[in-house]
Amino acid sequence: MDVRPRVAVIGAGLIGRSWAVVFAGGGCEVALHDASADAAAEAHVLVGQGLATLAEHGLVTDAKAAQGRVRICLKLDDALEGATLVQESGPETVETKREIFAELDRTALPDAILASSSSTIVASRFTQDLAGRERCLVAHPVNPPHLIPLVELVAAAWTAPQAVQKAKAIYEAVGQIPIVLQREIDGFILNRLQAALLSEAFRLVEDGYVTPQDLDKTLKDGLGLRWSFMGPFETIELNAPGGIPDYCARYGPSLARLSEAHADIYGAEKIAPVLAQWGTPPKPEEIANRMRWRNRRLAALKAHKRSQPAY
Ligand SMILES: NC(=O)c1ccc[n+]([C@@H]2O[C@H](COP(=O)([O-])OP(=O)(O)OC[C@H]3O[C@@H](n4cnc5c(N)ncnc54)[C@H](O)[C@@H]3O)[C@@H](O)[C@H]2O)c1
Repeated sequence: MDVRPRVAVIGAGLIGRSWAVVFAGGGCEVALHDASADAAAEAHVLVGQGLATLAEHGLVTDAKAAQGRVRICLKLDDALEGATLVQESGPETVETKREIFAELDRTALPDAILASSSSTIVASRFTQDLAGRERCLVAHPVNPPHLIPLVELVAAAWTAPQAVQKAKAIYEAVGQIPIVLQREIDGFILNRLQAALLSEAFRLVEDGYVTPQDLDKTLKDGLGLRWSFMGPFETIELNAPGGIPDYCARYGPSLARLSEAHADIYGAEKIAPVLAQWGTPPKPEEIANRMRWRNRRLAALKAHKRSQPAY
């Protein structure tokens, strides 16, 4: 079954126009609307450039045809006509989100999913009073979504699970990688991780332990290399012969001292629910195989980085 919807992107700024590239590149008909006619016109040009960049790298097959699927709509009603997914990408204030969502709920098709690109505001703060609040959620992208595929799907308590599942299937169909939060939390997941890292980065530089340039190298020439294709759990699983429990037993106490983490956060009892969700622990030979896979990918990445200009 083809789950690709007709999409209305509301707000054609940095994020909205990149969403238009994602959806048009993924085969959807896209209506792009902005309150400012100038922003909409400019976005059309930038969407073409975004699609051309993807085509250069073989990430879309026909950039011209994809651009032909994007129409600029000066009126909101026109944009919403026939749309079964609305990707709201307007300004980041609760008041604006409330106003736009009230209008979307009144005007969009009754079964359209209403998704907000909000990076910080949970849907329960701007959809509470809507008749169709069960079809509303946050679908938070990473800038620019046409090049970074993660989308955080964050439902309010009243969002229908089917709306989340339908949204997930749509983002997957256009090549994005959605994750589903189990419940709302400020900053969602990506920005909470980023905030933890940034606050430690600023602290280390402010307190004179390292220059900002050397701190950046620690990420781009250190941690970030593995993190571009493995998550932190996958990473530590390969950093001790007995996988995650072994890693936590060996390094947990010293890691806990480095952060404000509760001392037993890496303790056997504490990590048990994480391991239960993680699945069967890999056997030593599987860990060894995966280490070889990791090293091949790191070698390929190193070669790629060497082949590219630094800036
Ligand atoms: N910029 C980022 O890095 C980033 C990343 C992820 C998510 N987001 C989220 O995406 C959303 C958009 O951010 P952005 O960076 O594209 O902002 P932006 O300022 O570049 O674009 C917002 C656009 O919305 C338009 N607009 C204003 N009111 C409108 C209305 N009532 N109807 C239609 N259009 C309207 C503006 O004219 C503007 O073109 C925000 O919620 C933001 O938090 C941003």
